[in-house]
Amino acid sequence: MILGKIEKLFHTRGDIAYLGEPVTQLEHALQTAALAQSEGAAPELVTACLLHDLGHLLKDYGQTPTTRGIDDRHPQIVAAFLKGYFDEDVIEPLRLHVEAKRYLCHQDPDYASALSADSVRSLALQGGPHSADEARLFASRPHALRAVQLRRWDDRAKCANTPTPTLTHFLEIAAMLAKRTSAA
Ligand SMILES: [Fe+2]
Ligand SMILES: [Fe+2]
Repeated sequence: MILGKIEKLFHTRGDIAYLGEPVTQLEHALQTAALAQSEGAAPELVTACLLHDLGHLLKDYGQTPTTRGIDDRHPQIVAAFLKGYFDEDVIEPLRLHVEAKRYLCHQDPDYASALSADSVRSLALQGGPHSADEARLFASRPHALRAVQLRRWDDRAKCANTPTPTLTHFLEIAAMLAKRTSAA
């Protein structure tokens, strides 16, 4: 059931623009997962990449909410949606992908200067770059490294007209990881 809901969300809402970038939500999800797969990521992390921005589709704040000063808290929304259906190896990297951006902005000035316009706007709404204490705490989390990997692919996955494997391909990988609950 969870996979059917995910597929339906991508089919019904995946064509909306990705927050002011030159790709749709579905293209962004596929590109992020494809980059992870091409670099040999585990199926859990590939699936986290596919699903990391599903929170944008679960709650409709309209086009580019950051321009209206809204932080849509999409990592928390999708993490709650997937809870009970996937293990933390899938959920934690995606739940932490905004924290990973805040961390990278603290660690790497070059990273911050290369962010897209919308990522800069959302960064301010999300709390800005980590302080030294926040960065230390983040780095100590078990899934911090995978969240950073996801974030690096996420930032590169905003290219117009880029071929990727299909949604069906990545949903088949996700299906292998979905918990065998009666609702899954
Ligand atoms: Fe995101
Ligand atoms: Fe993203």
